Amino acid sequence: MPKVTFKNENQEIEVAAGTSIREAAKQLKINTNQGINGIGAGINKFINCHGLGQCGTCRVFVTEGHIANTNGQTLWEKKCFKFPFPDPIPALAYLENPEQTRLACQCKVTGNVTVETGPEINLFGDNFFS
Ligand code: FES
Repeated sequence: MPKVTFKNENQEIEVAAGTSIREAAKQLKINTNQGINGIGAGINKFINCHGLGQCGTCRVFVTEGHIANTNGQTLWEKKCFKFPFPDPIPALAYLENPEQTRLACQCKVTGNVTVETGPEINLFGDNFFS
């Protein structure tokens, strides 16, 4: 069974193949719906799209196993990350780290992965204005 390791929380769990990172996190009571650099995490925990891939608040970095051990980016993720309307925040996060940025509710694991919840957005990073 795939193992999901949550780096910031220092927790891991084994889940069935095809389980989303959001579902794995919920089993450990980890909030994947975080705000911008930690601001708004309390509100987003309750006000989100509940896994429909619409709100973009469940952004995570899959730091290990992101290519070999997850499904491909879904249409909802492409919409969130590549079209900055109506919410530009997911697209900004994607600019910083396009290969590893995923929506926890859309990213299904097929093997071991390591996940960073609530990745920071560096609005002044190298990629932001390029
Ligand atoms: S919970 Fe809204 S996009 Fe994942």
